Amino acid sequence: MQNIENQKPIKKHPNAPENIKPHPINVKFDDSLPRHWFGGNAFMTHILNTWTVIFPDAERYFVRWSRKALQYENLDPKIRKDIQGFIGQETRHASEHEKLWELLQKQGYDIRPVLDFIHKVGFDLIENNFPDTWNLAAVAGFEHFTAMFAEIYFESPELMNTMHPEMKRLFEWHAAEEVEHKAVAFDQLQAVNDSYLLRISVMNLAVILLYGISVANTLYFMLQDRSIFNIKEWAGIWNLFFGEYQLAPRSVSKFIEYYRPDFHPWEIQNYADAVRVFENFDNNYSIALSVNTCSNGL
Ligand SMILES: [Fe+2]
Ligand SMILES: [Fe+2]
Repeated sequence: MQNIENQKPIKKHPNAPENIKPHPINVKFDDSLPRHWFGGNAFMTHILNTWTVIFPDAERYFVRWSRKALQYENLDPKIRKDIQGFIGQETRHASEHEKLWELLQKQGYDIRPVLDFIHKVGFDLIENNFPDTWNLAAVAGFEHFTAMFAEIYFESPELMNTMHPEMKRLFEWHAAEEVEHKAVAFDQLQAVNDSYLLRISVMNLAVILLYGISVANTLYFMLQDRSIFNIKEWAGIWNLFFGEYQLAPRSVSKFIEYYRPDFHPWEIQNYADAVRVFENFDNNYSIALSVNTCSNGL
């Protein structure tokens, strides 16, 4: 790796889970998926649809840079093992989310502009011109978002239960793995360069990029199905973000945690939320396997 300015042995946080590994899932979507599958709410549906479109490329970007971090020879062996688990999880997230693309296009949504933007601005312009350490700081910054969205997911079961069951399965599984690996990108950045200034400077860019893309493309999807002109829809959005669920202030308070100089993702011990999901998945997965085995007469 080039551009390494600081090399410092970093140990795994005592609250971090022992093992990070991909958990089996195989989501399936069909034409029965409603257009506004998040409890009939167009805005929430399209934020998550937007993430479903941008996650695969973003996650492959995380994997690219984590593979580079693995080349750093002074990595603590436990952190190295975590990075390998992180790569396995993110690779699978990308392929599961991508399964929805065809159906979104069948429903009439144009997903090309946001994908083109990510490729031209995110990769051709920013990734290729950023120093290595800046890219690793970007991965850590984006992973803070996925960790805080996962936290919000687990804090709001009533709201999340309004999702279509298969979409809920996808996002719950993704949220659980995001919790499990939430410190990996942070630790790999600290191992390579622990500059506070680097971490927050890149986060300032990451927040503009992520929120800019998410809001712009959500409105674009809403324009495509005309829900943007529905007054009731906007009243619902207000209720979600500033009323009953307080999504806006809750996101802001979780976001600014990252700006504390002594921040570490595992100060918030919420691994139990992920374990609950995995136990449920493991049971369901074995049940599905045994049903399959029986029905095949094996
Ligand atoms: Fe992910
Ligand atoms: Fe992640």
